[in-house]
Amino acid sequence: MKKAIGIFDSGVGGLTVYKAIRNAFPEEDLVYFGDTARVPYGPKSPNTVIEYSIQNSRFLLQQGIKILVVACNTSSAVAVPALHQLTGIPIIGVIEPGAEQAARSTNNKRIGVIGTEGTVRSNAYTTAIQKLIPDAEVFSVACPLFVPLVEEGWQDHAVAQIIADEYLTPLKYKNIDTLVLGCTHYPLLHQTIQKVLGNSVCLVDSAEAIAGYLSRLLPEENDGRKGSDSFFVSDNEDKFAQIAKRILADSFGNLARVRLFESWFKD
Ligand code: DGL
Repeated sequence: MKKAIGIFDSGVGGLTVYKAIRNAFPEEDLVYFGDTARVPYGPKSPNTVIEYSIQNSRFLLQQGIKILVVACNTSSAVAVPALHQLTGIPIIGVIEPGAEQAARSTNNKRIGVIGTEGTVRSNAYTTAIQKLIPDAEVFSVACPLFVPLVEEGWQDHAVAQIIADEYLTPLKYKNIDTLVLGCTHYPLLHQTIQKVLGNSVCLVDSAEAIAGYLSRLLPEENDGRKGSDSFFVSDNEDKFAQIAKRILADSFGNLARVRLFESWFKD
């Protein structure tokens, strides 16, 4: 039986990653878990995010997956090493793909990164970018209000522009030519962010970057069959469904709520 690609996020934002993977691999079966009971991960401590990420991964492993994609930037930033100890299957986070794309895009080696407090605090993007370009200058800014804005469906609202101006204006003076959208929700604010920084700054969407990265791991096999879409959440399935329909349209279906069962916490 064909195994699925498992994708988890702290909630609904990872659907931007889901969408990019679905578009790139129409024949793959995908299983998504959104930890809507415990979102947001951004302000939480690394230990808590690691613990939640392990539990989410255990749930997906129980679904019989062949690759685990950590769509959440905050989890990717702090939990991937711990997840490698859980299983022998390939695990991909969003940090390296995003860093690679930023390194390819920059000409002046001045790169901005925006993300949650947890992602920015971890320095994960800076480390990954400087591994590729040791003399790159990386300017990171946490933009915590972007997440609730998107959850509220206000990405095109005037208030989004005001908040984006506030967070991003300091970056305008850093002469960056590339900005990593280091959070699942930020691709939905693409236009607003571009408007503040101007068209000369290239925005790197980590959702798109991970789909390109994944293609290196997946053998090209296309039997013409359309892959299945399954979604699990830990709470608030109605709200999740509402946003998911907005982001995914036709690819949305098969939603179930799972409880934080004891079994998640065991090997
Ligand atoms: N999914 C998170 C991330 O990409 C954003 C939402 C949260 O704070 O949990 O970092």
